[in-house]
This record gives sequence, C-alpha cells and structure tokens, in this order.
Amino acid sequence: MTTSPILVTGGTGTLGRLVVKRLSQAGRDVRVLSRQQEEDRDGLEFVVGDLSTGSGVASATRGVSTVVHCAGSQKGDDDKARVLVHAAERERIEHLVHISVVGADRIPIESAVDRAMFGYFGFKRGAENIIRESGLPYSMVRATQFHDLNLAAVQGLAKLPVIPSPAGFSFQPISADEVAARLVELALGVPSGLVADMGGPRVYTMVELIREYLARTGQRRRIVQVPMPGRAAAAFRSGANLTPEHAVGRQSWEEFLTQRLEVRT
Ligand SMILES: NC(=O)c1ccc[n+]([C@@H]2O[C@H](COP(=O)([O-])OP(=O)(O)OC[C@H]3O[C@@H](n4cnc5c(N)ncnc54)[C@H](OP(=O)(O)O)[C@@H]3O)[C@@H](O)[C@H]2O)c1
Repeated sequence: MTTSPILVTGGTGTLGRLVVKRLSQAGRDVRVLSRQQEEDRDGLEFVVGDLSTGSGVASATRGVSTVVHCAGSQKGDDDKARVLVHAAERERIEHLVHISVVGADRIPIESAVDRAMFGYFGFKRGAENIIRESGLPYSMVRATQFHDLNLAAVQGLAKLPVIPSPAGFSFQPISADEVAARLVELALGVPSGLVADMGGPRVYTMVELIREYLARTGQRRRIVQVPMPGRAAAAFRSGANLTPEHAVGRQSWEEFLTQRLEVRT
C-alpha cells in the first residue's frame, strides 16, 4: 500500500526536526516545508516555501493528506495559519495537526505593552481560531515552553552581570521530543480536535530555573526581580502559562540540563 507523504511545516525547527525524525522512524514519507533550500536526503523531500508570503505553499501541500504544522515565530502565526489553511482547503487535506501554546486562550493582549512583550500569545490564539473555524479536520495540542527555549533564555540572561527576572513568573518546561511524540501520535490517528494540554513534570519559578543553570555552569550572579506591567504579565503571575493539572512531561529541567550540558559527575 502506498501512502501519501506527511507535510511537516517548520520541519527544520526545534520541534519539527523531532517530528520529522519520528515520522520517518514510523515508516512514513515526509515532506518538509522550509524557507531555505535544502537537498532531499534520507528519504526526506524538502520544498521551499514561505507561510508569510504564501510562495511555494501550494506545491508543498500538493498530494498530501496530513499536515503537521510546526512552523512558527514570534510574530504573525495567525497569518501563517491562514495561508496554510487556504492551501489545505484547496488540496482537501484530511488532517491538520497543530501545535499551540498553553495560555493562548488565557493571556490577554489588550495594550501596546501586552503586545510588545507577549504579542506571541495573541498570534497563537489567532492561529487556533483560524484552524478551528476553517472546517478542516484537525487535531490541536497546547504545550508549555520547551526546555530548549528556557535554556536559550537563561543563557542569554547569564551574559549580563546582574540578571533581571520578571517578578512572580513561573514556567513548566517540557521536553520538545515528548511533544513531538504526541504530535506524531495525533498525526497517525484520526482528527481529534483540541486535546489535553501538555506540561512539563514540575512548575519552577523563573529564579529557580536561572539558579539551577548558574549552578550547573559554575557561575554566580545576582538576580533582580523586575515587576512587569500590563494585563498579560498579570496573567503570567497568576499562572495562565502553566498547566499543573496536565504535568504529563517526564524529563525535568534538571535532567535536561544534565543531558544538554554534559555535566561531568
Ligand atoms: N518553543 C516553545 O517553547 C514552544 C512552546 C509551545 C508551542 N510552541 C510552538 O511550536 C512551534 C515550533 O516551535 P520551535 O521552538 O520548534 O520553533 P523554531 O525552532 O524557532 O522553528 C521554527 C520553524 O518555523 C519555520 N518558519 C518560521 N517562519 C516561517 C515561515 N514564514 N514560513 C515557513 N516556515 C517558517 C522555520 O523554518 P525555516 O527557518 O527553515 O524556514 C523553523 O523550522 C511553533 O508554532 C511554536 O509557537 C513552541
């Protein structure tokens, strides 16, 4: 039996790469949409396209029945979803699998301050609505921040002599590979709509995340808690970016750091 390839948008990113790997291991043909030209390899087909401009998207979706939509950036994910949905409707895609973020429905983006600092959540909410209202069969899961993202953030902060940390912010970081496994499970199943959130195994204050990283890398810094203005920040302080009732992730921040930093014991 021949099956059509599965298109992975953002298949070159942190999450998408892991989805591609797992789909290939499951024996599926995979097509990757990327803005960069890459040579086809290891049974992967690369198609150049841009979800912000729409170029190449029709070619990427041609002959595909399932799309796993992992492409994303800080801005404009609503527009990217609109472009993808448009192409998917023309191709009569049978299953669109979408990754969103915990808090997309709960973090209000109302003022210029909210937009400047947390506009991402508004774009993710817009993307969810576009997919939900499209009429396409879909599965959608909201995840908390990936360990990789938290690591990049604390590495950046640790370059400063004094580390500013948003007062009252907590995170529940999760392994991107565990999220990838769930997306693949959804992609290989039937469209399931919005499924249960995915959060990491533990909630940490931002200060705890920074301190653990500093300790692992043998650095000492003063951490200053900075009050953040706006309603989106208030939602963060009340835990709108967390899902402690869905702490399904297994790999902790400490385990991730051990693996990533290859700490010698
Ligand atoms: N990171 C997190 O903590 C987190 C948590 C929850 C949900 N999510 C969501 O998960 C998804 C993946 O996140 P990630 O951390 O893996 O992102 P990432 O590493 O930054 O990768 C982003 C991917 O999106 C693609 N992309 C960006 N703009 C594009 C455009 N205009 N057209 C086509 N492709 C475009 C990039 O492909 P090229 O550069 O090759 O074109 C890249 O493969 C995003 O939707 C994000 O919102 C992330």
